[in-house]
Amino acid sequence: MTHRQELAERGGSIVLETPFTSKAETKPEAASGANPEMRPETNPKETNPETRPETKPGAYIECTGFELPKYHPVIITIDGPAGTGKSTVARQLASRLGLDFLDTGAMYRAATAIMIDRKIDKEEVGELVSMVLGADLHFDWQHDPPMILAWDAPIDHRIRDDDVTRLVSWVAAIPELRHHMVRKQRVIGAQHPRLVTEGRDQGSIVFPDAAIKFYLDAEPEVRAKRRIDQLGLEGEVGLEEMCQRIVKRDHIDSTRSDGPLVCPEDAIRIDTSKYDVQGVIDLLEQHTRERIADLISTD
Ligand code: DC
Repeated sequence: MTHRQELAERGGSIVLETPFTSKAETKPEAASGANPEMRPETNPKETNPETRPETKPGAYIECTGFELPKYHPVIITIDGPAGTGKSTVARQLASRLGLDFLDTGAMYRAATAIMIDRKIDKEEVGELVSMVLGADLHFDWQHDPPMILAWDAPIDHRIRDDDVTRLVSWVAAIPELRHHMVRKQRVIGAQHPRLVTEGRDQGSIVFPDAAIKFYLDAEPEVRAKRRIDQLGLEGEVGLEEMCQRIVKRDHIDSTRSDGPLVCPEDAIRIDTSKYDVQGVIDLLEQHTRERIADLISTD
């Protein structure tokens, strides 16, 4: 049964209940540019269907078992709460399929690091927003994963620190900041139209017309354990405390007025509690293959 048939039959998001276990560009966003959100693509030829020669029939890249026309746009969104392994899964899925990878959480984390390091108070939201706009957050796509920069300097080494993680949900709930990030992400999507993008609102708000949408979830205890392992906090932060932090973040993320964490209606929902990382990636790849075959056949 195809993705579409399955969706139609279930009348909404697909919930996978059966366990699945198995093995396992500077294409800068822009050169420089007066309007940072509209940074020009370095190689406009590459994205202009009128001029690029590769769009003629026969130009394909192999994607492990199926063929995706080389310049066929395909946006895959992966939404879900913290600790579901979205980043790892999204990055590896992109790598398997030869697509670009966007970690939108890194953008909110960078904004939070700026707030802390520039000593901006919570009451000074206006100042924070203009500071973040002035920082011109963007990615260096030559790195894998793409490296985030503020004021043209790398900030990736700072964004996973504990003080940033503790404050980021609060920062990500600021509507003016979210509007800015959403616009930036859409520009990135236009410049990198073959993209796996992950976050909380990618399928629901940023790319509602994405070709394929996934929503990853898992029990809070499982997510807390993964988070401790991922951040190397074993012995420093207890499972219960991490679980409480995660539930608090879920609450902030899902109750904010702007871009709350929700499962898009047309998303494939996967409870990852029982799977290992490779199992989840295999599952997403399997759905993606099916969907792309579907898309190509209806082109
Ligand atoms: O995925 P992460 O832990 O790096 O996300 C950090 C925070 O940013 C988290 O509180 C949710 C928020 N976020 C968001 O609100 N929207 C996104 N698209 C990505 C992340």
